[in-house]
Amino acid sequence: MKHLVVIAQVPWFLTTLALAFSYPVPLHLPVVAADANAVVSDMAFPQPMPAPRPADCPSMCGDVQIPYPFGIGDNCSWSGLDEFTLICNRTFNPPRPYLGDFEVMSIALDAGEMRVVGSVSYICYNSSTTAIADGILGWTFTFAPFLVSQKRNTFTAIGCHTLAYLSGMDDRSYRTGCITSCKSLHAAAQDGEECTGLGCCQTSIPANISTIEVFWRDSPNYTPINPAWRYSPCSYAFVAEKNWYHFRRRDLTLVANKNFTDRVGDRGIPLVLEWAIRSNGSCRIQLEDNDRESAKPAALACVSAHSYCTNATQGSGYLCRCSEGYMGNPYIIGGCTNINECELRKSNPARYEKLYPCHSGSTCYDTQGDYMCKCKFGLKGDGKSNKGCQLIFPEYAIAIVGTFVASVLACLVVMEIKRRKQKKFFDKNGGEILKSMGINIFTEGQLKKITNRYSTPIGEGAFGKVFMGIIDATQRVAVKRSHVKGEALRQEDFVNEITIQFRISHANLVRLVGCCLETDIPMLVFEFVPNGSLYNVLHGASKLHMLPLLVRLDIALGSAQALAYMHSHGSHNHVHGDVKSGNILLDENLTPKVSDFGSSKLVSIAMHANWSVAGDMNYIDPVYIKTGCFTEKSDVYSFGVVLLELITRKTAKYDGCRSLPIDFVMSCKDEGKRRAMYDRDILCEDDGLSYVNMECLDRIGELAVRCLKEDVEERPTMVEMVEALKQVKSVACGCSCSHTTYETYTVKFN
Ligand SMILES: *[C@@H]1O[C@H](CO)[C@@H](O)[C@H](O)[C@H]1NC(C)=O
Ligand SMILES: *[C@@H]1O[C@H](CO)[C@@H](O)[C@H](O)[C@H]1NC(C)=O
Ligand SMILES: *[C@@H]1O[C@H](CO)[C@@H](O)[C@H](O)[C@H]1NC(C)=O
Ligand SMILES: *[C@@H]1O[C@H](CO)[C@@H](O)[C@H](O)[C@H]1NC(C)=O
Ligand SMILES: *[C@@H]1O[C@H](CO)[C@@H](O)[C@H](O)[C@H]1NC(C)=O
Ligand SMILES: *[C@@H]1O[C@H](CO)[C@@H](O)[C@H](O)[C@H]1NC(C)=O
Ligand SMILES: *[C@@H]1O[C@H](CO)[C@@H](O)[C@H](O)[C@H]1NC(C)=O
Repeated sequence: MKHLVVIAQVPWFLTTLALAFSYPVPLHLPVVAADANAVVSDMAFPQPMPAPRPADCPSMCGDVQIPYPFGIGDNCSWSGLDEFTLICNRTFNPPRPYLGDFEVMSIALDAGEMRVVGSVSYICYNSSTTAIADGILGWTFTFAPFLVSQKRNTFTAIGCHTLAYLSGMDDRSYRTGCITSCKSLHAAAQDGEECTGLGCCQTSIPANISTIEVFWRDSPNYTPINPAWRYSPCSYAFVAEKNWYHFRRRDLTLVANKNFTDRVGDRGIPLVLEWAIRSNGSCRIQLEDNDRESAKPAALACVSAHSYCTNATQGSGYLCRCSEGYMGNPYIIGGCTNINECELRKSNPARYEKLYPCHSGSTCYDTQGDYMCKCKFGLKGDGKSNKGCQLIFPEYAIAIVGTFVASVLACLVVMEIKRRKQKKFFDKNGGEILKSMGINIFTEGQLKKITNRYSTPIGEGAFGKVFMGIIDATQRVAVKRSHVKGEALRQEDFVNEITIQFRISHANLVRLVGCCLETDIPMLVFEFVPNGSLYNVLHGASKLHMLPLLVRLDIALGSAQALAYMHSHGSHNHVHGDVKSGNILLDENLTPKVSDFGSSKLVSIAMHANWSVAGDMNYIDPVYIKTGCFTEKSDVYSFGVVLLELITRKTAKYDGCRSLPIDFVMSCKDEGKRRAMYDRDILCEDDGLSYVNMECLDRIGELAVRCLKEDVEERPTMVEMVEALKQVKSVACGCSCSHTTYETYTVKFN
């Protein structure tokens, strides 16, 4: 017996006939579902596999998908005892699948549900006591595996004076009913309202129903009456999918000569059935998998890998499901396939990003049956968890490391900038040229070492400080470090000056040892002259008390020779620019060495790119101040002042505001006044010698006065000065060595 028996649409008189014998509906049909479990439960595993569905079986009938275990045709469906064979009636267009007499609307594999087209029971009156039409719905599923879904269906009756019955169990032990009434159409519920008995009523149905009967009288003798027949001639009742029916007042009446069934149509009412594999195998955790915690129950029909079974929600039997992360048909081999969650997330973020979360900082990777959310670089944790990814290192650690790295980088950058700057200065200062000429080139670092970080200053001039240094632990040097900033130092000027200073060598000139070009204004390294400057010897702290005339003459002569040498050296206009006692250094033998030669020029080149002199105001040639022209004769003027210092042992500016050159020039005409200015220490004790010395002093004084002449033409050149001083020396020498020659000299003052 593989078919349903349907008694819907049976004419009323036929039914009433039947009711006369077996009340209420005389159809007795065997039901397999209830006792199927007993058959299945003692079956042993493993069982022969059911034959797979042949490849040529259709999977669709019209618009309806037919998934295995359902099938169209004999060998296309599950081969067990349960009947899943459908008929596809192709006389319709599109074709319609049928399960017995029920048209199938859809099949759901996961839920184990099938929607079929249901039908309506009705009764109509042409007077309050006369029913003119009566259709009673009743059916029994005569075979497994179908049961009416309890949770998905509801029993509904429509009418204004209606009592509808529902009977369910096959032994008719179960019966329920539903009453609805309305005094007039206006007393009925509003459209869309719940069915609460005003025009319509609803009630739930129980589980395990395989039989449905809907009828209008509870005893054969009873004649239903309908006092409301004028405004609501017909009553309807049906079991249908929950939420399918929404109340409308017009369902109580004819509208445009159309009744409720006309409007619904004969395929309009959906009924939900539940199916399961009820007759073959059972759903159990297999013994060999028992110890595994993740073990899933297995059953005969669940043939796909990554599938498991669950007991049916009602009745016996089971359903198959794909494991989490897989989808497809668990009833066919290889039916469950991996879900690519990442792909889904991409294709429909709105829907799937919530379903398959990957929290920020993570990237989605698909795996078999699952997916991973791998944290991105620098993050740890699980992107799937609610906490998401966290930083591997706490933020303060990152901050510390970051700061450290940043400062190291900054240091490197600063060093590189400095190195480039040094290189730039080196090039600007003509480093390559000077190097090629064999001049000692020191680096800034070497000089720092040589001067022991500039720890011993030994002098200070207009353009910088002088520091003591030691090269190779033996050679003492003086390092001149300028603090003047210059912008427009022309390379060729500088190279020329350095070259000249390096090439010239004279016993009375301080020798240039080398230079450092890595600073803006190059640093110069000179030989060290131990006894300090003439200024210090004459006036300063290291003042020597006894300084005989001959010694002073030698100092004057040596200095003059150095200046004369410079003035006559080469084609350039080589002036000193800053002749003063402070720039005449004395070595251990009191041999003079003129220093700072050209340094002032270097500085002024740097400062103005034009020749100007940064000399000591007490020595500066007034003609230069007036004309701005500095010549060798300007050096001669300054040398004159030095000569006066030598013989008077007065500073160029003395007694507060007195100028030595002016005072001397003024007093020189008066022999008494003049001689009063001479340094007493020079004069010998014995009168003769004292006389010669006085003579020499007068001569030197006369030379000095010539040097100070306002008219530069009247000033002698340095070469002439050398000659004149030599003569004075011979007089002085004669004075101390022989007494014969001094008369031949006359002293003349202008
Ligand atoms: C179904 O299978 C049986 C046995 O395998 C075979 O005899 C029968 O012809 C098949 N029916 C159809 C419609 O293919
Ligand atoms: C299970 O199915 C097989 C056919 O595949 C059938 O021979 C057998 O009788 C069925 N067992 C039960 C208990 O229904
Ligand atoms: C298909 O449906 C038509 C109309 O209801 C019916 O006459 C016919 O017998 C059906 N065919 C099959 C194969 O069930
Ligand atoms: C109602 O219908 C029955 C049968 O069709 C008929 O005999 C009867 O006269 C009708 N009554 C009225 C009031 O129309
Ligand atoms: C509804 O109307 C159709 C024709 O329009 C008719 O065949 C059917 O019997 C009517 N049903 C009821 C309950 O009046
Ligand atoms: C299913 O039901 C049977 C019997 O009712 C029971 O033995 C079995 O453990 C159940 N399986 C699961 C997975 O609940
Ligand atoms: C439905 O049937 C199953 C098995 O036949 C039974 O275990 C269950 O108690 C029944 N449920 C109801 C509500 O009758």
